[in-house]
Amino acid sequence: MSDSHSKLYPPPPQIVAGAHVSGMAAYEKLCAEAQADYPGYWARLAREMVSWKQPFTKVLNDSNAPFFKWFEDGTLNASYNCLDRNVERGLGDKVAIIFETDDGKITRVTYRELLERTCRLANALKAQGVKKGDRVVIYMPMSVEGVVAMQACARIGATHSVVFGGFSAQSLRDRIQDAGAVMVLTADEQVRGGKQLPLKAIVDEALGMGGCETVRKVIVYRRTGGQVAFDAARDLWLHEVTQNQPTTCEPEWVEAEHPLFLLYTSGSTGKPKGVQHSTGGYLLHAALTTKWTFDLKDKDIFWCTADIGWVTGHTYIAYGPLALGGTELVFEGVPTFPDAGRFWRMIQDHKVTIFYTAPTAIRSLIKAAESNEAVHPKRYDLSSLRILGSVGEPINPAAWEWYHANVGGGRCPIVDTWWQTETGGHMITPLPGATPLVPGSCTLPFPGIDAAIVDETGQDVPHGQGGILVIKKPWPSMIRTIWGDPERFKKSYYPPELKGYYLAGDGASRDPQTGYFTITGRIDDVLNVSGHRMGTMEIESALVSCTELVAEAAVVGRPDETTGEAICAFVVLKRPRPTGEEAKKIANELRNWVAKEIGPIAKPKDIRFGDNLPKTRSGKIMRRLLRSIARGEPITQDTSTLENPAILDQLAQSN
Ligand code: WTA
Repeated sequence: MSDSHSKLYPPPPQIVAGAHVSGMAAYEKLCAEAQADYPGYWARLAREMVSWKQPFTKVLNDSNAPFFKWFEDGTLNASYNCLDRNVERGLGDKVAIIFETDDGKITRVTYRELLERTCRLANALKAQGVKKGDRVVIYMPMSVEGVVAMQACARIGATHSVVFGGFSAQSLRDRIQDAGAVMVLTADEQVRGGKQLPLKAIVDEALGMGGCETVRKVIVYRRTGGQVAFDAARDLWLHEVTQNQPTTCEPEWVEAEHPLFLLYTSGSTGKPKGVQHSTGGYLLHAALTTKWTFDLKDKDIFWCTADIGWVTGHTYIAYGPLALGGTELVFEGVPTFPDAGRFWRMIQDHKVTIFYTAPTAIRSLIKAAESNEAVHPKRYDLSSLRILGSVGEPINPAAWEWYHANVGGGRCPIVDTWWQTETGGHMITPLPGATPLVPGSCTLPFPGIDAAIVDETGQDVPHGQGGILVIKKPWPSMIRTIWGDPERFKKSYYPPELKGYYLAGDGASRDPQTGYFTITGRIDDVLNVSGHRMGTMEIESALVSCTELVAEAAVVGRPDETTGEAICAFVVLKRPRPTGEEAKKIANELRNWVAKEIGPIAKPKDIRFGDNLPKTRSGKIMRRLLRSIARGEPITQDTSTLENPAILDQLAQSN
């Protein structure tokens, strides 16, 4: 990265002036404050950013590491912080959410309205017997109702678990069962890219599979009016249950450590894990990072394009911007409908000032703009923009430069934010009014975050050398545990050889001169496809569960120009290896099978059939060889321990 300095982008003076963190000296001062008195630093910010019912006196409790507690004797309510507090500050008539549907209809919801809608639903949930600590699964489209559902759970102390609307009935069932949810909130259908897609029918199917007996009620938001089956004993319409409810509801004041939500994410082994987040520490970091990383101010129009089914939609749609009393745009649809100029048109129409999206979206819109002038961002007035953001996967320098020049008009800093479902909020990121940027680098840790790169024994590696990304000190918004599996939490994130450091699962390196971080990708068996996290084992188990066809399967990732990584599956069938048209047909069957088991996002792009898989004499699949084959690279690795070397040629030719 030594030539990277020639590509340094200093923060633009118009952003530095008046930024919440203005200039590198201000950044360094915050880091020094955290360094000098770590708990004191977080306590100061927790008092400034969060309204407490019962102020905390304890800051960090590390007596039972790695099960850390923050602000444990304080009480608060997340929904009070996001809604009531803003109304009390005189922001009742301020627009909280501008909502645009797939077909372009726009509604504006003020803070007062959002509070009233939240209270009505909160009262309805209580009337149905939902209590503090109960888990509620939310399987809803991008909508005001989706945000209201999350806020209403928070208001009564119920722990929400949002499941992305693209997951299959099987995945939904597994999550409902693992969480032991008492209720599911859903919609009749969702609308994306001009198509109506079922949601309620998938909930019915999931509940019908058995194992979800904890669910007492299903509340259905009527989005399209499409036909859905209704179980009179179990199902309720959202508009009916909220109709006569009061528009006020006393918040349930919960302890800071009370679980605000569970969010399932993929790990390297086994089933997806329910990442459990706290209320106090999480809310602090959601608000603080929204303020510093996006420099959110009163007049900004903030747009995070993520879905509420992912952590980005939690922290930067449902909580962070609302905790600050900001105005945000929420979008139902997809970037390519009715055409690939949709994002640019929406930025123009709503005068968006801060835009936060994923590299995959940028890369696919670059492709579209290159083949069709009419959807090129230069055809739109994007002059309202002042800050751009990127999240979910590494952004390659070429995409960064294009985003900077064509969307940001060369004047908007790009905050390349590295973080994870487990971290709750940004961990390594530029601050727009302070950090000089280098394309492709997420630059420096957020003030107070002790990020480092170490080797397998937990020793720091020198700058310029690759290693394992860790966070050395606990931080307020960190994962508290894996729901129902504290042992797996410890094993996954705090392996003994790493000296009590949090293991992120990513590889990284630091620039010798600047100390800037560059993320090189996952070091475990997790794939990142279009910014969606998936475990290779999860996809393998989905494939082998097709017991009629599949004898064995191995899944690896390979680089892909648009989606970052692509899923590549090697499959041994229970019948002779197919070729030609038959191979294509079976590959398609298997793709659909995986879509049904997990969801369309998990469909393998490549499926290759072999008579066997490359294995060691002890029967272990040699994945590194499969990775080379998937990339179309010659095999240079040692194959002497391979039981069946001839299989390599067969697999290489089977594409
Ligand atoms: C990757 C999404 C490079 C990384 C917020 C991480 C990134 C995983 C970046 C978490 C970035 C996220 N640069 N890689 N700016 N942001 N990642 O849990 O591999 O869905 O471990 O959280 O995405 O994905 P998750």
